[in-house]
Amino acid sequence: LVVSGCGARALDPAGPAAAAIANLWWVMFALSVIIFAGVMAALAVGIWGRRGDPGGQRERVGRYLVLVGGALVPGLVILGLMAYNTYISVDLEEPDSTPVATIYVESNQWWWHVEYPDYDFATANEIHIPTGRPVTLRLHSDDVIHSFWVPELQGKRDMMPEQVGQIWLQADEPGTYRGQCAEFCGLQHAKMQFLVIAHEPEAFDAWLEEQQAPRPDLTDDQAIRGQELFLEYGCGDCHTVRGTEAAGTVGPDLTVIASRRELGAGTLPNTRENLADWIIDSQQFKPGNLMPPMPMPDQDLQDLLAYLETLR
Ligand code: CUA
Repeated sequence: LVVSGCGARALDPAGPAAAAIANLWWVMFALSVIIFAGVMAALAVGIWGRRGDPGGQRERVGRYLVLVGGALVPGLVILGLMAYNTYISVDLEEPDSTPVATIYVESNQWWWHVEYPDYDFATANEIHIPTGRPVTLRLHSDDVIHSFWVPELQGKRDMMPEQVGQIWLQADEPGTYRGQCAEFCGLQHAKMQFLVIAHEPEAFDAWLEEQQAPRPDLTDDQAIRGQELFLEYGCGDCHTVRGTEAAGTVGPDLTVIASRRELGAGTLPNTRENLADWIIDSQQFKPGNLMPPMPMPDQDLQDLLAYLETLR
């Protein structure tokens, strides 16, 4: 209970879809408790109750009880739960109102590429949504099967290499909701997390506008040197920084890396020190990830960090 209930927070819903799933869970839990108590009571009677003569009236009542309690009641309970479960599953396929945005999410070992096709920009490991209205998520995997899960907002949806799936999210209140890959996908499956950040609609529109605005020119000398180093060290072969020559798609988009809360898909808090350690050798934190160790003189590292800190 502690590990799954409190940690995953699936029973602490923050949106209509998760609320429906949590209701289903509570109904099943209550029925389980009632049935368990009934079975234990019958067992106690069986062990300690008075025994009748073979073929007598008590035995006939016992046979009747086995038929009703052992076949009819479980059959009705299971059929009832199946109907309720099917109703919820069908109901969860489509949101009640029209989605206000479509977001494209692509899973990779072990991070999330997040694209806003209507607004022509991408980010990674963070999905920003408005509150109170649903958004559609188109889900696709670039390698193996992953599964998209934000316990407080929705059920799980597998992400397949060969097809594009779909799910919708809606958060009732502004806040940050943790998502986690829910299908074992290799060594760093556990460190394949993301955040859903829900803003009030006006704040969301402002966020969209901010993302689409051209990046400001660099003014700081150290940051300018850092940008040159970013390209010299080959960072741009794997990472994209919009508005620059860096256009790699192997790793996460870094256009707003400085504003992200975490590094390595939930591996570390995004601090200057962690970012420095991550650049030098990310393998110590997340072995097997695609980013090679990048040993470099400390001055280069400081310049690079100065540049990365402007990317927000
Ligand atoms: Cu991706 Cu587990």
